[in-house]
Amino acid sequence: MVYDIDVLRSFYTSYATKVETARKKLGRPLTLAEKVLYAHLYDETSLADFSRGADYVNFRPDRVAMQDATAQMALLQFMNAGKNAVAVPSTVHCDHLIQAYQGAGSDLPVALEANCEVYAFLKSVASKYGIGFWKPGAGIIHQVVLENYAFPGGMMVGTDSHTPNAGGLGMIAVGVGGADAVDVMTGMEWELKMPKLIGVKLTGKLNGWAAPKDVILKLAGLLTVKGATNAIIEYFGEGTASLSATGKATICNMGAEVGATTSIFPFDRNMADYLSATGREEIAELAARNAAELQADPEVAAHPEAYYDRIIEIDLSTLEPYINGPFTPDAACTLSEFAEKVKKNGYPRRMEVGLIGSCTNSSYQDLSRAASLARQVKAKGLKMAAPLIINPGSEQVYCTSLRDGMIADFQAVGAVIMTNACGPCIGQWKRVTDDPTRANSIVTSFNRNFAKRADGNPNTHAFVASPEMAMALAIAGDLCFNPMTDTLLNEQGEPVRLDAPEGDTLPKKGFTVDDNGYVAPAADGSTLEVTIHPESQRLQKLAPFAPWDGKDLTDMPLLIKTQGKCTTDHISMAGPWLRFRGHLQNISDNMLMGAVNAFNGKTNCVLNQLDGTYDAVSAVAKAYKAQGIPSIVVAEENYGEGSSREHAAMEPRFLNVRVILAKSFARIHETNLKKQGMLALTFKDKQDYDKVREDDRISVKGLEHFTPGQPLEVIVKHTDGTIDTFEALHTYNDMQIGWFKAGSALNTFVK
Ligand code: F3S
Repeated sequence: MVYDIDVLRSFYTSYATKVETARKKLGRPLTLAEKVLYAHLYDETSLADFSRGADYVNFRPDRVAMQDATAQMALLQFMNAGKNAVAVPSTVHCDHLIQAYQGAGSDLPVALEANCEVYAFLKSVASKYGIGFWKPGAGIIHQVVLENYAFPGGMMVGTDSHTPNAGGLGMIAVGVGGADAVDVMTGMEWELKMPKLIGVKLTGKLNGWAAPKDVILKLAGLLTVKGATNAIIEYFGEGTASLSATGKATICNMGAEVGATTSIFPFDRNMADYLSATGREEIAELAARNAAELQADPEVAAHPEAYYDRIIEIDLSTLEPYINGPFTPDAACTLSEFAEKVKKNGYPRRMEVGLIGSCTNSSYQDLSRAASLARQVKAKGLKMAAPLIINPGSEQVYCTSLRDGMIADFQAVGAVIMTNACGPCIGQWKRVTDDPTRANSIVTSFNRNFAKRADGNPNTHAFVASPEMAMALAIAGDLCFNPMTDTLLNEQGEPVRLDAPEGDTLPKKGFTVDDNGYVAPAADGSTLEVTIHPESQRLQKLAPFAPWDGKDLTDMPLLIKTQGKCTTDHISMAGPWLRFRGHLQNISDNMLMGAVNAFNGKTNCVLNQLDGTYDAVSAVAKAYKAQGIPSIVVAEENYGEGSSREHAAMEPRFLNVRVILAKSFARIHETNLKKQGMLALTFKDKQDYDKVREDDRISVKGLEHFTPGQPLEVIVKHTDGTIDTFEALHTYNDMQIGWFKAGSALNTFVK
C-alpha cells in the first residue's frame, strides 16, 4: 500500500461536515469546486464568502507530488527550511530525465547512469524526510498519481503544471512552483487567489472517432491559452458520467493549456470503478457514501448561470475530433476542416512521426483504442507510412498492456516502445532525422506543442490530437487524411477505410504489475545524510537571495524586450538543460535563450549597454551583475505560460534581473516570481510596451510605499535625453510584499 488509508478515512469523516458548515455560513448552494476548496481552508475560522478572482485564501492541501526535474529545486529549498520530515504525504516521481531514443530496453539503463547523481540525491532526500520515491521507469507523475493517490474531494499541489490531471478523480489538484510545495511540505498555509469558476456543461455521449481529448481541444480553441487564467473549470451535466476516469483526467490535464488553476469532475460510477480497479475499493466506498457532497448542489445544476462566472456547453454526441497546432495548443481545428488549414498555411503535409504518450494520454484506455487501429493495419493489408513511438504512462499500464497483447499489436506495426516516462513530451527525444533544417510535421497525443518542445527543432510543426488520431495519421502518413471519410490504398491496391477505434476503459482481467517502482522512505530518516559534492555540475546547495535594500530600483538597463509568446520553455529551456535543474548557476546559462528580441527578431542576442556589443541574454545579465547593476525584462501577453518550473523565476533572480514588466502573466509563473523576491509588474496601458527602446535605462519608483492595489511608477530614460513615465500595476498582497522585501518567500520563514 503506497498511501495511508487511515488518513483517507479521517478525511472523509470530516469532509461532509466542513462542506455543510460552509453552505450554512455562505447561505447558498455550492459548486463542487467550492465544496472542495472550503473543506480545505487552512484556518476554518477564516471561512467567508471569498471574492472570486480577488481574495487570497490560505488552504491546507492533503498531498504534494513532485517530478524529478522540479523536485530538485523544491527539495533543495525544503532542506533549507529546518524540518525533520514533511508535514503532509509527499512523493517524488522520476519521469522527466529519461531520454527517448531506441526504446525502453536500452534507454532506461542509459538514463540511470547519466542521472545517477540526481536520482541518488532525490532518493536520499526522499528517504530522509519521509517522502515516497517512484524510481525511474515507474511512470509519468500524473498517471502514477491517478493510479495511486488521487481521491474524490481531495486537494493536492504538484510541482508540475499538469497536476490538474487528478481532477479526473474529483480532486482539486493545482500545479505550483517548488516554493509553494515547500510551504505545504513544511505544514504552512498554501496561498491561492480564490479562483473564478467556469462551468462546462457536457451533454450527450462520445461516439465514433471522438475522444475525451477532443473536449479539451475544442475548449482550448474557445478559451485560448489564457482564457481560464485564475479560474477553475468545473464540468457538470449528464455527459460527464459517460466519460471514464482516465478520459476525465485527460480533459483536466489540458486545462493547464487554457491557463486554468485546475479542472474538476463530479464523482460518479466510473471514478468508483477506476478506484476499485487500481486497488482502492475502500476509497471508492468512502467516496460513494459522500457522493452528494462530491458534486455540485442540485440548485447549482438547475441554475448554473447563477453560480458560475461563465458557462460553456459542449454536446459530446456531435463533437468532432480536433487537431490543434502547430506551435500553440489553442490553434484548434476540427478534423473536417484540418486538411484545408494544412494546405492554406503551407504546413508540411507529410506526417513524419506519430507519438502516443505523455501524462495527457497514456492510460490503458488510450493505448487500447490506439491498438485497435494498429490491428487494422495488418487485417486490412495496410502499411504504416510514418514511424510510431509509444510512451506508456506507468509500469502498471505497460505490464497490463503487454499481458493483453496491445504492446505486441504496436510492435507488429514497427512501433518503438519507449520508457514509461515523459520522453519526447519534454524535449527528451533523441530524434533521428535526415535533415533538421527541413520543415516537418509530427502529430502527438501530448498537451503542448510549443516550438522546439518535442525535439528541439524549430522547424518541427507539432500538432496535438487524441492517441487514436495520432495513430490514424501515422498509418496514412498524410496530415490531410481524414479517417472518417477517406480511404487508403492497401498493399493489393484496394481502397480500404479504417474502422472507428474501440477499446476497453479498464482491463477486463484487471491491472497487473510485477514491480510498480515505489520505494518507501526510511521509518526514521533522522540519521540519514544527504550529500552534495561541492564540485558537482548537476546539484548545488542554494544560497538565500539578498533582501531588498530599501531603495527604488533605478536606471536598470533593459536586458531584453521580448516579442510574442514567451513561455517557460522560452525562459528556461528543457531538453538538454534538464540535467542542470538542481544547479542554479549552471542552468542560468539558458536564461531567456528562446525568447525573441523585439529589436532584432533574433533569439539569445541582446545589446550589452556597457560595451555596445551583442551577446547571449545570460551573458549580458552576468556582465551587469558583475558590476552590481540590476536589470529589467519587458514582455508581452501571458508571460511565463506553460510549465510550473520555478527555474524560469530563479534564473533571472540569480542573474540580478529584478523586474519583469509584462502585458500580462501566466498564473503559476507570476506566483513563482513573487516567491523568489522578484517584481512582476504589468503595464497599466499596454501600449506603453511600445515606448521601451533597446538602449533604455528604466527605473521603478515608489517601492518605499509598496502597497496592495497601488500602482508603481516606471520612468524610462531614452539615450536621446527624452523620458517616458507611466504606471505599472501589480497583484502583490501584504504577505507577498513581505517576500519581496525579505528577498524571497523562503527567507521569511527560515530564521
Ligand atoms: Fe511529463 Fe509532458 Fe506531462 S513533460 S508530466 S508528460 S506534460
